[in-house]
Amino acid sequence: MKHLYLTGNMGSGKTTIGKRLAKSLHIPFYDLDALVEQAAGLTISEIFAQQGETHFRELESKVLREVAHNPAGVVATGGGIVLNEANRAVMRQSGWIIYLKASPETLWKRLQHARNRPLLHTPNPQETLASIVYAREPLYQEADWIVEVDALTPTQAVEAVQCVYHPLSNAPLEVSVLPEQPYAYPISIAPGLRSRAARLILGRRPCTRAAVLTHPHLLSWAEPLLAQLRESGIPAQAITLRSGERMKSLRNAERLYEHLLRAGLDRSGLLIVLGGGVLGDLGGFVAATYMRGIPYVQIPTTLLAQVDSSVGGKVAVDLPQGKNLVGAFHQPALVLIDPELLRTLPARHWRNGFAEMLKYGIALHLGLWRRLQTMLDQGVLTPRRVRKDPAEWTLPIAQCVHLKAQVVSEDERDVSGRRALLNFGHTVGHAIETALGYRGWLHGEAVAAGMVAEAELGRILGVTPDTVAQELRETAERAGLPTQIPPSLAAEALLQAMRHDKKRAGDSLSAVLLRDIGNARLEPNIPQDAMEEALKRCGAS
Ligand SMILES: NC(=O)c1ccc[n+]([C@@H]2O[C@H](COP(=O)([O-])OP(=O)(O)OC[C@H]3O[C@@H](n4cnc5c(N)ncnc54)[C@H](O)[C@@H]3O)[C@@H](O)[C@H]2O)c1
Repeated sequence: MKHLYLTGNMGSGKTTIGKRLAKSLHIPFYDLDALVEQAAGLTISEIFAQQGETHFRELESKVLREVAHNPAGVVATGGGIVLNEANRAVMRQSGWIIYLKASPETLWKRLQHARNRPLLHTPNPQETLASIVYAREPLYQEADWIVEVDALTPTQAVEAVQCVYHPLSNAPLEVSVLPEQPYAYPISIAPGLRSRAARLILGRRPCTRAAVLTHPHLLSWAEPLLAQLRESGIPAQAITLRSGERMKSLRNAERLYEHLLRAGLDRSGLLIVLGGGVLGDLGGFVAATYMRGIPYVQIPTTLLAQVDSSVGGKVAVDLPQGKNLVGAFHQPALVLIDPELLRTLPARHWRNGFAEMLKYGIALHLGLWRRLQTMLDQGVLTPRRVRKDPAEWTLPIAQCVHLKAQVVSEDERDVSGRRALLNFGHTVGHAIETALGYRGWLHGEAVAAGMVAEAELGRILGVTPDTVAQELRETAERAGLPTQIPPSLAAEALLQAMRHDKKRAGDSLSAVLLRDIGNARLEPNIPQDAMEEALKRCGAS
């Protein structure tokens, strides 16, 4: 078990919430400020007054390093702990970091009469507080999760943090997608969630009949669900399909329509997809088009599908000319993510999903990027093996889901350029897959080499710093992912595949380029010769 570090500004409730949480979880509570006072034999105000802030910060780092080795517990940190990069690394290595976010107004209400806050001993403490909040925000944002506490009572805040740190099937971590839309839907994430799947599905979307689309070798996961549905009075049957990208075809969509007709599903029926991204995309496409659209639920069983393809409603089949060329936007009614389903997933497919996780980190979120690197440092995933313990994976999976949900909620139809950021590495990645005829390489592997090539493109165009491109390449290598395009592929063949790619606007080529870690932008009008040069530098012939 890892520590739970609560970070946030002074007044955000770290101590109150931390104490209650530790009690509820039956683990120790550590108050870092109190431990610093104990070590110094002085109050924090006295340390500031007599020895200065620098001395306080040194002592704080020393106490943090000691606490990091204690038995796992809840650690309420001081507001300034995040100022020091080494402190952030120590917290990441030894625990999960949850930021209790409160607005400057809430904080001021709580702190205006406080005497023991030396940083607020200024002529205009309210203004000082606001500027501290503003300056520290990007550092707090590096946390593994953010809980907004403005509108929460302490009891609600404790419950919210507990669902993040220790999600349970009856108290899962919840992420909402498209909250402003009538077809908003929740994503529930917890190890063991499958045991409550039928109840959650029928609670959300009552239906008269259900079909579960899955693979033959996943029937052992599907059968308990079918039994639960039947016990609830819903006729339910399994439809199985073989694995592989080549299954994502119009031919198979047609076969599925026939299955659904035979199973008697009409518009009051429900399709449940229990599988990876291929079944999710194909099943979602069938649900979008069968009888002009029926509801569907995603229960993703690969890491790639849990972090990416099950969320956001992009559903499609491939054509021989390219991937996902026939598709729709059709949001699921519910997504249930149970990381225990990944226990049977082969290591290569963990790396495949990890590539998409790296994409979220490098393109959207520095904190996630550092978390993934820490997982590599700690041997959770190596080129040889994977530690599949859900305790290591649940929160990083949830963070990817949350990032995707945010992006999709802002730009569902991929029109503003925001959702396009999720395609970092995919312009080249899809071209590699198409040029290989969807054989040999997995999607995430193509995306990994694609990200490296698109970072190289960014370097050539003077947008991506050398250090960022280098860090990406090294990190992907440490994860055992390919970073070179197969030399059997000619740059011209890849450019040809890109011409068919649906992300191409008119005649011009666009690509997502990195400006920094966690900061990407969609760039239109990419010169073809720059792309060709990047492809060749990355191994294409
Ligand atoms: N719609 C989107 O937004 C989106 C996003 C990213 C990727 N995708 C698509 O996702 C697809 C790739 O998905 P994928 O990587 O999940 O591939 P996949 O669905 O082919 O699954 C990979 C393999 O794992 C097996 N498998 C699945 N779950 C398992 C389990 N729990 N235990 C053991 N084996 C298991 C499958 O049978 C298959 O052989 C691509 O077609 C890609 O284009 C879509």
